[in-house]
Amino acid sequence: MKKQAIAALAARIADTQSKPANPRVKAIVDRLVLALFEVIDEMDVQPDEFWTGLNYLSELGKSGEAALLAAGLGLEHFLDLRLDEQEAAAGLEPSATPRTIEGPLYVAGAPVCQAEARLDDQTDAGEALFMSGRVTDAAGKPLAGARVEVWHADSMGNYSFFDPSQSRFNLRRTIVADAEGRYRFRTIMPSGYACPPDGPTQRLLDLLGRHGRRPAHIHFMVSAPGYRQLTTQINIKDDPFIYEDFAFGTREGLIPEIVRHADPAALRDYGVDRPFATVEFDFVLPQAVAGVPASLVDRPRASAA
Ligand code: BEZ
Ligand code: FE
Repeated sequence: MKKQAIAALAARIADTQSKPANPRVKAIVDRLVLALFEVIDEMDVQPDEFWTGLNYLSELGKSGEAALLAAGLGLEHFLDLRLDEQEAAAGLEPSATPRTIEGPLYVAGAPVCQAEARLDDQTDAGEALFMSGRVTDAAGKPLAGARVEVWHADSMGNYSFFDPSQSRFNLRRTIVADAEGRYRFRTIMPSGYACPPDGPTQRLLDLLGRHGRRPAHIHFMVSAPGYRQLTTQINIKDDPFIYEDFAFGTREGLIPEIVRHADPAALRDYGVDRPFATVEFDFVLPQAVAGVPASLVDRPRASAA
């Protein structure tokens, strides 16, 4: 079709208005309709292909996997990169800990602990992992009372709440940092996540010749009054998918060393009876500034409080 005819039809549809509209929604939908017309024309999308795609979106909505697919298509990572740019343009401290995607598996309302926590319910025989560090500002000043929300998958790659076989809030806590900004927790080593094999996300990934795996990781939301909230993850270094994350969440600066311990003295010190791992990681929060969109995104989240 002629570009002019496509633009004229999109304009006619955009002009169809008989009552007040939400101007922001209208501007975005009008632009999206034009973009879709252009893609259909450029790719010569056939009617049966169009209806297959539309039906796919209906199934995606029913399955509750829309946020999963958004991560898999790189959209969530793209939003992070845009926010990075906006922060850099506003002169935010570049030494702050990099953000990365939240993903769709956060659950609000996890138990709050002071300075230290045990995350696992002791039913998972995975490797014991001890993680600790500090929350500071860019100058290294400890942020006493900072909140460190942490959540991760079990040794099968499943998350409590979404996996009903796990206990309530298993592998999820909020830790309030001590006077020196320190936090520490004991947990079990997570495994990587895989998209549900029979769901619509994996079905589309298959058609794109892609896997739906994430490397093992631990999620964090870190916040302190007067500072920008940080949503991030650390990756477990030896995971074979570390640079193959289907959701594009792996970033430099988020891959700390994992130290393995097997000597009897270390086992005794840590109160464990088999080899274990430790990891140190500090979170650096930038100061809150005016004129940059909030880093804590307003999105639907599960809550089990
Ligand atoms: C996750 O963090 O486990 C996750 C992120 C994006 C999509 C699916 C899972
Ligand atoms: Fe995750």
